[in-house]
Amino acid sequence: MQARIAVLGGDGVGPEVTAEAVKTLGAVADRFGHGFEFRSGSVGGRAMDELGSPLPDETMEIVLGSDAVLLGAVGGPKWDDPAAESRPEDGVLGLRKALGLFANLRPVKVYPQLIHSSPLRPERLKGVDFIIIRELTGGLYFGEPKRRWNTCEGRRAVDTLEYTEQEIERVVRVGFELAGVRGKRLHSLDKMNVMQTSRLWREVASEVAEEYPEVELVHMLADNAAMQIVTNPDVFDVIVTENTFGDILSDEAAVIGGSMGMLPSASLTSVPSMGSGLRRGGKPALYEPIHGSAPDIAGQGVANPVASILSAAMLLRWSLGLQREADAVEDAVEGVLAEGYRTRDIASPGEEALGTREMGDLIASRLG
Ligand code: IPM
Ligand code: MG
Repeated sequence: MQARIAVLGGDGVGPEVTAEAVKTLGAVADRFGHGFEFRSGSVGGRAMDELGSPLPDETMEIVLGSDAVLLGAVGGPKWDDPAAESRPEDGVLGLRKALGLFANLRPVKVYPQLIHSSPLRPERLKGVDFIIIRELTGGLYFGEPKRRWNTCEGRRAVDTLEYTEQEIERVVRVGFELAGVRGKRLHSLDKMNVMQTSRLWREVASEVAEEYPEVELVHMLADNAAMQIVTNPDVFDVIVTENTFGDILSDEAAVIGGSMGMLPSASLTSVPSMGSGLRRGGKPALYEPIHGSAPDIAGQGVANPVASILSAAMLLRWSLGLQREADAVEDAVEGVLAEGYRTRDIASPGEEALGTREMGDLIASRLG
């Protein structure tokens, strides 16, 4: 297969981890006889410095001419002025919105080899394997009005939480579709005891449920879910929730996997049936680690590239429809972990830690 992949490394550790994902995709191309063409673009803070915008036109052009987008991370202390007009994060938010990527899949998996890297008790983590679907183009992130101003009593700011039933329906449907091919249980999280948007969310979820009788729908309050995720994580199969709850809960869920450095994500416009891929006739989907730019360790070559490499596996699976290749990448990651190789974030005290590039080399070499 020939495919064009846009590579937007971004800021901080973004370019370092993304380089290892590209290396892995290169190894996949060699092993399985594909031709992947990588095209790099700027996004985030560096793009602001160099090109005057967190999402420059030339980047958008590369993105729209690609079959899929691999993103690193954006942001850093240099661009953290709260009064600034534009921010690195606007680059990612702009991409999500422009590409219509409303369904953000964040799988949470426990590798048996890493069970001791998590601060949670090992017996609570056995067999945990769920996926959070975060609504990605609505809610507080995009609702209008969204601004700050001065009044005679002082400064004031507003963000708006708004959802249409169509926005809720399409993402909840992705939840049912995925639960249908997994463990057949869907948890829909909301705050219907407080918020109107949540009441609508719950109502729409129940309506869609009628079309999926084989899937058990469980409504749960988001604050309760925050507790259940770390006390009973094995009850979850698929979780669907709105943008902000999903942002917060997926970082929380990352402690289950032992490190933020392990968790990939896919941002999609729909869920294609397995094997069909998303590349034709639509805008590209986007793949990125759930971790941020980690400015504290940027440039040191110690970041864990696994989240980015697993994001590349999701790209193979969802955008290109290459299941065998995606499995091979995931097996390579698992194999390297099983052999005891660790980056700093997942090494136990006293254990030797590999750098970003060494970890990427090992994973790529297992694909050779
Ligand atoms: C994430 C990040 C982003 C978000 C930031 C970088 C805008 O935290 O992908 O989870 O809040 O969505
Ligand atoms: Mg986040």
